[in-house]
Amino acid sequence: MDSNKPLKDLDDWENDLLKRYPEPNKKQKEDYRNYNDSPRDALVREFYRINHQFQSYDFVVSKQEEFLSLDKRKMSVWDALDYLNTLVDDSDPDIELDQLQHLLQTAEAIRQDGHPDWFVLTGLIHDLGKVLCLYGEPQWAVVGDTYPVGCQFSNKIVYSEFFDQNPDISDERYNTKFGVYTENCGLDQVKMSWGHDEYLYHVMKDYLPKPALYMIRYHSFYAQHREEAYSHLMNKEDHENFEWVKKFNPYDLYSKVPVPPDAKALRPYYEDLIAKYLPNQLLF
Ligand SMILES: [Fe+2]
Ligand SMILES: [Fe+2]
Repeated sequence: MDSNKPLKDLDDWENDLLKRYPEPNKKQKEDYRNYNDSPRDALVREFYRINHQFQSYDFVVSKQEEFLSLDKRKMSVWDALDYLNTLVDDSDPDIELDQLQHLLQTAEAIRQDGHPDWFVLTGLIHDLGKVLCLYGEPQWAVVGDTYPVGCQFSNKIVYSEFFDQNPDISDERYNTKFGVYTENCGLDQVKMSWGHDEYLYHVMKDYLPKPALYMIRYHSFYAQHREEAYSHLMNKEDHENFEWVKKFNPYDLYSKVPVPPDAKALRPYYEDLIAKYLPNQLLF
């Protein structure tokens, strides 16, 4: 197995999330922990094993230095969407939902519920940070749950037992409740494990309203928006904006529809929406 690509498909992570957090009112088959027995589940487990081993404080600092200068490419939103579509792995056609379809379905579900247009736009773009794959980044540094580094890893994080291989767990700067942070210092001060959320936040931070930026930056932070394991690091503004992160999450997880939206027909609407908020070329 290629340790950079334990998953057959990036979507395997998102499909796994649906098992951990099944749609309310839909029957949950079994406890998630007793439900990881298929070959695909074994790959997801391996994915988290590697993720939790390597996402250390120093690793995050090095990735921030590498990517947050945003000097790699200039792309329009549509260029980035087109690229994401090439990531689809067709070895597994039965569960395929390509990235553009996921983004359109998320955005359309938000639009149908009558939310503000910037919320709809957030649905469309929230996963564009996966263009990190353009630069050959390993899957475990692009997708997966995110969580703070530089302080104790919560046992509410999925597969938290795998943190025993993370170097920070024996580093006394990082292995206490607050680590390098202070109580209620605010998440903006907190380094998150590296992936598509943090990266896209930096690409978008000058253009969108604050709730949209929170949704982008923390949509994979399940240990907080579902488990509330890191409230001790959050300030008042974080708590207020996490209401939006929580509002966004069901659209991300549960918006798959049997008949995929017609990307061509929807394109003019989304072109206008993109142009209302974002420059034609974005720095990635
Ligand atoms: Fe995502
Ligand atoms: Fe998503």
